[in-house]
Amino acid sequence: MKKRILVTGSNGLIGSEVCLYFGGHGFEVHGIDNNQRAVFFGPQGDTRWNQQRLAGIIPRFQHHEEDIRNRQGIDAVVKEIRPALIIHTAAQPSHDRAAAIPFDDFDTNAVGTLNLLEAARRYCLESPFIHMSTNKVYGDAPNRIAMKELDKRWEYDDQSFEQGISESFTVDQSKHSLFGASKLASDVLVQEYGRYFDMPTCCLRGGCLTGPNHCGVELHGFLSYLIKCNVEGQEYKVYGYKGKQVRDNIHSEDVAAFMFQFFQSPRRGEVYNLGGGKANSCSVLEAFELAESESGKRQKYTYIDQNRIGDHICYYSDLRKMKAHYPNWSITKSLPRVVSEIVQSWQKRLAAK
Ligand SMILES: NC(=O)c1ccc[n+]([C@@H]2O[C@H](COP(=O)([O-])OP(=O)(O)OC[C@H]3O[C@@H](n4cnc5c(N)ncnc54)[C@H](O)[C@@H]3O)[C@@H](O)[C@H]2O)c1
Repeated sequence: MKKRILVTGSNGLIGSEVCLYFGGHGFEVHGIDNNQRAVFFGPQGDTRWNQQRLAGIIPRFQHHEEDIRNRQGIDAVVKEIRPALIIHTAAQPSHDRAAAIPFDDFDTNAVGTLNLLEAARRYCLESPFIHMSTNKVYGDAPNRIAMKELDKRWEYDDQSFEQGISESFTVDQSKHSLFGASKLASDVLVQEYGRYFDMPTCCLRGGCLTGPNHCGVELHGFLSYLIKCNVEGQEYKVYGYKGKQVRDNIHSEDVAAFMFQFFQSPRRGEVYNLGGGKANSCSVLEAFELAESESGKRQKYTYIDQNRIGDHICYYSDLRKMKAHYPNWSITKSLPRVVSEIVQSWQKRLAAK
C-alpha cells in the first residue's frame, strides 16, 4: 500500500509544491484547502487554478474541501486517512492583513494548528508533523542588530550574524504583528506536541518562500508580486528603509526537498530557520535589477517614506543547523534562477488571461 501524505493549504504555493514532490515520490496525496486565500486577498489570491493543476498532474490526488478551523471536520479527515506524514502549510500568511482580521487570523493560524495536532495525536502519533512557521516569530528583534548601509542594501554590522539569524534568536519582547503572534502560538504548540507527547514534529521558520507558482499579491509574496509588477509594467510600492531592506529567498522545491529529508529521518520538537540564506538574499533595489535583467523591462516604482510596521531591515537565515542535521540537503536553486522561473511563469500566466 502507498504511504499517505496529508497536506493542508494544498492549493497554495508551498502546499502545492509539496503535493507534487511527494506525489512524485510515490505517496498517495491528500490535500486540504478551502480557497481561503481568495477570502483573505480577493480574486487575485484565488488558488483554484492550482488545485486543478494538481488534479491534472497527480494520479488519484484527493482534495478535501475542508476548513482547518472546523475541529470536527479535521478530526474526521485525519481519522479516515491516518497519514504517514502531515505537512501543515494552510495559514493566513500576511503580516499586514492580520490587523484587519484578528479573529480569522488567530483562528486559522493558532487554533487551526491545534486542531491538526490534536487529530494527529489521536490517529497517527508516530507520523512526522511538519509545520510551516515563519521568521516573524522573531518579531522585529532582528532590527536591533547593528546594521551598516551599503550602496544598495542594509547589512549586519556584527560578526556574530555573518551567517544570518539562527534558531537561538529571541522570540520574546519585540513587535511581531498579530500575524507573528498567531504564528508564534502555533510554533510553540508544535514544539510542545514534540516535547510533551514525544511526537516527531518540526517547525520551519520560513524566510521568503517563493517560486513560479506563487500568486504574489501586494500584501504577501514579495518577490512574486514585485516580478508580476515588472512583467505587467505596473507600479510597485516600496515602503521605507530606502528600498534597501534585505530578504532571503528560497524556491518552494528546495523547501519540499528539506521536508522529504525530515520525513526520512524525523526528530522531535525541532525548529529550523528555512530560507535562501545569505547567498540567496537581496534587497528590494537588488530585486528590481534582477527582474529587469531577466524580463528586459524597467521596473516602475514609487517610494513611500514609511516602513511597514515591524518590517525587518535585514533578515537572512543561518542554514547551518539544517545542513548539520540533514547533510544531504542544500539549496539547489540560485536567486537568479528563481527570478528567471518566476518571470517566465508570470509571462505565461498573464498572456493566458
Ligand atoms: N510565502 C512565504 O514567503 C512564507 C514565508 C514564511 C512563512 N510562510 C508560511 O508558509 C505557509 C505557506 O505559505 P504560502 O506562501 O504557501 O501561502 P499560500 O497563501 O499560498 O497558501 C496557503 C493556503 O492555505 C489555504 N488556507 C488558508 N486558510 C485556510 C483554512 N482555514 N482552511 C483550509 N485552507 C486554508 C489557502 O487557501 C491557501 O491555498 C504558511 O504557513 C505561511 O505562514 C510563508
